Amino acid sequence: MRLKNRPWGKTVLDNNSEYYVHDTNLDDVKLTDFCSRGSLVLEIGAGKGDFVITMAQKYPDINFIAVEMQSMALAFALRKIQDNKLNNVLFVNCDMHFLFEKLQDYKFETIFLNFSDPWPKKRQNKRRLTYPTMLNEYYKILKNGGKLIFKSDNDVLFNDSVEYLKESPFKVESIVYDYDGNDPYDAQTEYETKFRGLGTPIKRYIVVKEEK
Ligand SMILES: C[S@@+](CC[C@H](N)C(=O)[O-])C[C@H]1O[C@@H](n2cnc3c(N)ncnc32)[C@H](O)[C@@H]1O
Repeated sequence: MRLKNRPWGKTVLDNNSEYYVHDTNLDDVKLTDFCSRGSLVLEIGAGKGDFVITMAQKYPDINFIAVEMQSMALAFALRKIQDNKLNNVLFVNCDMHFLFEKLQDYKFETIFLNFSDPWPKKRQNKRRLTYPTMLNEYYKILKNGGKLIFKSDNDVLFNDSVEYLKESPFKVESIVYDYDGNDPYDAQTEYETKFRGLGTPIKRYIVVKEEK
């Protein structure tokens, strides 16, 4: 959902520039420096940051890149860490499609897709973050043994996404249609909190990159 601009948004972004790279600055040394650290994890479509902030607090030795194309969503995320500085998160404000090229030299442990947009119309399906073309891009930047983890409330998107896996090089580790949320290597997202509150079953798959 498109977020409305708030009057404080730009100030929060400007005041937290050490945590944040804008799409006009993808060659910024901040991104390459961050990617050159140890263990790397990527979240795509981070929204207001609930997931990545909790994960970064739980796993201080992992470096999290959170990509989100709406700057206002990132302003909400940055506001949450203002009083609680985290040095293992970098928010990148861009469409993920522009970022793949910049990430080719790095290998990620995990890529998280949380409650990605469903793009329900047939002609829009190609925009889904779980679409086969995207799976091929994720495969390239994951290390061997690295995982792609996708959670969703949406039955149609999830079932189609399971089908897309058949065309992909990934090996399926698990597919769950009523995920209890109890995996310690996970955190609740804003959308998840909403859908769990409504009693909607949360679906999740985990797939693994295995060298052929
Ligand atoms: C439905 S929201 C879910 C937000 C959050 N993950 C959650 O679960 O609460 C999907 C988010 O993904 C972002 N998004 C969608 N496609 C994207 C892309 N190609 N690159 C970066 N962000 C994207 C949208 O702007 C939106 O904030």
